[in-house]
Amino acid sequence: MCGIVGIVGREVVAERLVDGLRRLEYRGYDSAGLAGLVDGRIERRRAEGKLQALADLIAAEPLGGVTGIGHTRWATHGAPNTVNAHPHATEHVAVVHNGIIENFRELKDELVARGHVFESETDSEVVAHLVSDGIDNGLSPQDAVAAALRKLRGAFALAMLFAGRDGLLIGARRGSPLAVGFGEGEMFLGSDALALSSWTRRVLYLEEGDWVVLSKAGAQVFDHEDRPAERSIRTVALSPSQIEKGNFRHYMQKEIFEQPQVIGDAIATYLDPATRLPRLPEGGPDWRAVSRLTIVACGTSYYAALVAKYWFEQMARLPAEVDIASEFRYREAPLPTGGAALFVSQSGETADTLAALRYARSQGQFIVALVNVPESSMAREADLVLPILAGPEIGVASTKAFTCQLAVIMCLVLAVARARGTLDGEEEARLCAALSEVPARALEVLNHDEKIREIAGWLSEARDVLYLGRGVTFPVALEGALKLKEISYIHAEGYAAGELKHGPIALIDEQVPVIVLAPHGPLFEKTVSNMQEVLARGGRVVLLSDTKGIATEGRHAAEIIELPVVHAFVTPLLYAIPVQLLAYHTAVAKGTDVDQPRNLAKSVTVE
Ligand code: F6R
Repeated sequence: MCGIVGIVGREVVAERLVDGLRRLEYRGYDSAGLAGLVDGRIERRRAEGKLQALADLIAAEPLGGVTGIGHTRWATHGAPNTVNAHPHATEHVAVVHNGIIENFRELKDELVARGHVFESETDSEVVAHLVSDGIDNGLSPQDAVAAALRKLRGAFALAMLFAGRDGLLIGARRGSPLAVGFGEGEMFLGSDALALSSWTRRVLYLEEGDWVVLSKAGAQVFDHEDRPAERSIRTVALSPSQIEKGNFRHYMQKEIFEQPQVIGDAIATYLDPATRLPRLPEGGPDWRAVSRLTIVACGTSYYAALVAKYWFEQMARLPAEVDIASEFRYREAPLPTGGAALFVSQSGETADTLAALRYARSQGQFIVALVNVPESSMAREADLVLPILAGPEIGVASTKAFTCQLAVIMCLVLAVARARGTLDGEEEARLCAALSEVPARALEVLNHDEKIREIAGWLSEARDVLYLGRGVTFPVALEGALKLKEISYIHAEGYAAGELKHGPIALIDEQVPVIVLAPHGPLFEKTVSNMQEVLARGGRVVLLSDTKGIATEGRHAAEIIELPVVHAFVTPLLYAIPVQLLAYHTAVAKGTDVDQPRNLAKSVTVE
């Protein structure tokens, strides 16, 4: 959630720290701050609001120091204001923190009893006082940090700067990622490799429980028992174009338009171009012996997981249970011996999904992680990792990760179906061909951008919007509603079309737009009869269907968006795109902050 950067540099680092934070702003953006070491003393600049407020402050009141740390915050404890903004500091140490210190109240009480004076309402400030207390008692910064880490409970990533110790930073990772970057005579810390991408590509990822001492000369890593540890340095391949907006107005728009390309990349990796058959990395379970698959995720990834359920059951005849990670992790669900569990997560760091993964492991499940960040915690802890290859997703609202998740899940399902012998050869070939066609069809869908922008013009006037779908397009209806809520702040709900008359139909009147996702196929007639129920009550329908569907039913709808005719199973990949564009253009029409919607942050590493 929050973003962390740190530099042990050769010249004043404030501007570079702000630059690093810019690449992390998607992780949180309610306040930001820096600390630098000036003549051996800790100095800070902190500002409420977007990072630009901090940049303006630094321009007005420059901050010196060749060693420094920075932070962009997503508030957990304490309002988003300057006093609660990081870094938190004492005269000895400045700290930036991502995560939650669960036992901060008891630690704070002890420290207050010993005379420490706190200025903020945050849990994070306790770390500064705890380390400071050790230094007061004669410990070196390193020993004081080691002692403090032993007392902290919760999930965190930390970066710390010490008075009088130019050229020293200490970082720690427990439950939240932290990367160390190696420069020429300089060293870096970042809560992900993106932050470091314009400074270095040589990166070391701390492992769970590690902490690290950085100096200009390099890094010494210690494990969770304070033993020196060797961790390998990797070269990360992030090109600047992947993390820049280019000619697009917003990251979200860029990421929507990247979909034909990235879906194509994913399919080319998981579907053999010569044979057009699925190919997965080695090391999966014996799918014939798997009795049940448990699929767990949050948010948009959960909707991809819901589509997966339909596909696993229908194509691979494999019973699949899908759950929201925050519920699953505490439900103590009995899991079958010899079962497998699939965790879907763009970031690979979502706290609830990670905890769910650990629970499934404790129950002896074979763990498959479908992630966009191959160095993420979930990827490290899984038995089989399937990277979705979407490239960095910076817009807070997930778009290309969703469709890449679907593309890779479909390849997985095809491989499982093959192993279980549940698809006949012809149908398998038809499905593989249908999937291979998706990038070209997605390009056609993007051609409707202008039409969708026009529809969004009147959608932006609505107070409530309903999305209806059936079968594999039901999760897309849920996703469409989530996208609209997230970035336009219009209340929206997704429903299985058949559920309409069990309650939500009471909401329908002329004021409520209803977006109906109805590809022509086995469920079309059923969905259309639900659409008729809406029309009979004066509802304004936007119908998303294909040529056949529009030909028979299009005249009844207030607006139509005509999508290509494709195999029913791949419709979620294509119908996702217009609902993303509808949300995007509605948000633009309303003038909201598309890439950084209020209250949200990407990568939810706290519960
Ligand atoms: C919605 C969105 C969130 C995430 C959710 C899970 O646009 O981005 O709902 O999908 O927080 O995140 P990951 O996939 O990183 O586990």
